[in-house]
Amino acid sequence: MQIPLTKPDFRFRRLRRTTALRELVRETRVQMSDFILPIFIEEGISAPVAIKSMPDVFRYPETHLADIVNRAWNKGVRAIILFGVSTHKDHEGSDTWCEHGLLSRMIKIAKSAQPDMLVISDNCFCEYTDHGHCGVVANNDVDNDKTLVNLQKQVVLAAQAGVDMIAPSGMMDGMISAIRQALDSAGFTHIPVMSYSTKFASAFYGPFRDAVDSSFKGTRNTYQMDPANGREALAESMQDEMEGADILMVKPGMAYLDVLANIRANSSRPLAVYHVSGEYAMIKAGAAAGVIDERAIVLETMTAFKRAGADLIITYYAEKMADWL
Ligand code: PBG
Repeated sequence: MQIPLTKPDFRFRRLRRTTALRELVRETRVQMSDFILPIFIEEGISAPVAIKSMPDVFRYPETHLADIVNRAWNKGVRAIILFGVSTHKDHEGSDTWCEHGLLSRMIKIAKSAQPDMLVISDNCFCEYTDHGHCGVVANNDVDNDKTLVNLQKQVVLAAQAGVDMIAPSGMMDGMISAIRQALDSAGFTHIPVMSYSTKFASAFYGPFRDAVDSSFKGTRNTYQMDPANGREALAESMQDEMEGADILMVKPGMAYLDVLANIRANSSRPLAVYHVSGEYAMIKAGAAAGVIDERAIVLETMTAFKRAGADLIITYYAEKMADWL
């Protein structure tokens, strides 16, 4: 017996018939101008140090920075974010506001290597404190307001060194207004702030902590956000927007696409996503095991970030994307 068949109401497959048609109606596109490349610079090394869990990612000596910036530029990368790994650590990370400190030197080297490259500084303290926390520790916790005072000094120093954009990642309350006030009163009203507005206390940062050789053993649960909290994620992003953040961010990426979409729906600010070390390491490990197609997985991931609402993507794949797009 044949079952009577109602014809489909609408045939979606009509626009899937050829490559040209599919490309014509593609809603989301990924391009080199979407990407920001993180670069790690470490004091006291003379050759690049491979990061075991992150194949093709290295910690570079300062003397290589100009070459790394030029290499990225020549491949089509137009924005970088600098992470310093300091040997001049103390209890509050004072090297970050020292005129001759690593942060200031990295910015100057990167800008003079390639003046048109957008140079962003990751503004935190964890790679500059002897305890590894993202601020001043008092009474067994990171003291929010003492940290803000130091952050103000740090961002003014970064601006004086010539940075194009400030990116505070410490998740301190009030950090955006503190930074805005400091920059504005030092004459840097034109320097934008990209806030790590929604940064979760995530296990996906594991390889990064390897990468920066962090002696850090504790947790950041008293300042980074609980991965369970979506409403709080939106609230903190809105707070940062109100305080004057020019760009908002969600970090990590793949496990937080709902958060990304929710912020996109509630803010008109540009929105960044950080495809973090653990996400990178998982793809690399899967590819090395022969169980996934690295290029296809990465392109799909980047497309998904943009579809969910991201305008910008910070990723260790930024340079590699030039070969794949
Ligand atoms: C800390 C910091 C972290 C990352 C960059 N800066 C997270 C952390 O250690 O808590 C993670 C980046 C990554 O995993 O790719 N300010």
